[in-house]
Amino acid sequence: MIIHGKALLWDRIENVYIKIDDGWITDISKQAPTGEVIEFDKPGMVILPGMIDLHVHMRDFEQSYKEDFYTGTLSAAAGGVCIVVDMPNTRPRNNRLEVLRRREAVASSKAIVDYGLYYGVPESLDELEGYEELAVGMKIYPQDYDNPHLSDILRYNANKNILTVVHPEDPSDMSRGVRSLSSEYKAISMFREKAVKLGLRLHLTHLTSVNSIFLAQTGESNVTTDTCPHYLLLNSDQHKGIYYKVHPPLRPKDIQESLLENIKQCPLDAISTDHAPHTIDEKMGHDGKGGFPGLETALPILMTLYRRALLTLWDVARLYSYKPAAILGLDDILGTIEPGKLANLVVYDMDGEYPVDPSGFKTKAKHSPFDGMKVVGRVYCTIVRGRFVYIDGEAHVKNGYGVNIKNLLGARPKPVSTGD
Ligand code: DOR
Ligand code: ZN
Repeated sequence: MIIHGKALLWDRIENVYIKIDDGWITDISKQAPTGEVIEFDKPGMVILPGMIDLHVHMRDFEQSYKEDFYTGTLSAAAGGVCIVVDMPNTRPRNNRLEVLRRREAVASSKAIVDYGLYYGVPESLDELEGYEELAVGMKIYPQDYDNPHLSDILRYNANKNILTVVHPEDPSDMSRGVRSLSSEYKAISMFREKAVKLGLRLHLTHLTSVNSIFLAQTGESNVTTDTCPHYLLLNSDQHKGIYYKVHPPLRPKDIQESLLENIKQCPLDAISTDHAPHTIDEKMGHDGKGGFPGLETALPILMTLYRRALLTLWDVARLYSYKPAAILGLDDILGTIEPGKLANLVVYDMDGEYPVDPSGFKTKAKHSPFDGMKVVGRVYCTIVRGRFVYIDGEAHVKNGYGVNIKNLLGARPKPVSTGD
């Protein structure tokens, strides 16, 4: 297969032919190679590396009414996301080896894009050994901070070089349920210290302020960070009500604006969505659930920030594809468009502006804090390992096309032929 169009090659846009064989990019050339060409050289269209979302909740199991691996990965494909990494706060919790195996079975039978699995902190050390064979990392929630085995578990992760992702909100600093920035700072400092001591690969997710991002830095590369589109664009002064509820909460306007203004200058590694679907009924009321879907709005929002000159195209690809690939240990085969890498691609059509319309979402959760916000362009199609999984609103592969990224981790870059 050969596709032709304006593609982002690292930080440059070039008009090229991308040759794809068996799912791998085997050649990139300015001249048309022989063979049938699929044409994307159209005004406004740009070919980007497929996005990688380090933080999603695919739900499933007993909460499949909120989302399942089919609808969740269809939502991903519709958002130009080729890899999602699934959180373990499922029902039942994914913190026992038997549950992890069942999670893999469900995911592999339903997913249409590739996926990674995080394992939860187990209650017993008997449930630890070997979890990394199926899971790409472990997720630590505030409720796990006082787990009596936490030190042993972190040491296990450090010794095996397993990625450890933390939700940083220290419960001891949340008086009467107020989830303040100081509880975020406290958790960041605490885990950063542990990471330095143990040499742990630590990822601090959904940070809400510039200070948090700076606080996380160690000077070494073993601590990484992400923030989410909602902390960049929404704030607790202007955006109130059930559809904005999320944990950690939206911050005041000055904190949010400073995050957006400093997004390029601060040492942020990645954007994730924290795609957290709930039914509208569950969002209602005083104790309504926190979280909302994000997979179908993230890339359009980032492309809107590009159009507003707040980000370059490379910033978009770096934060939502290249660095996430590196954090997962996949950057030798993913994250950029170049020969030798897997053909995970998204064709984005920059033409037009569309208001976000949750009624048309592929996720089961038909609501969004971005409802009505105008975004630039839309995802035209998404390619995972050389296959069109989504074109113009429709899925084009069967349930179960997606594979666990643990199966990709052993893959070496495809040798590139030279000299013809
Ligand atoms: O808002 C949130 N929703 N924060 C979390 O930590 C969990 C998530 C969920 O699973 O709904
Ligand atoms: Zn989450």
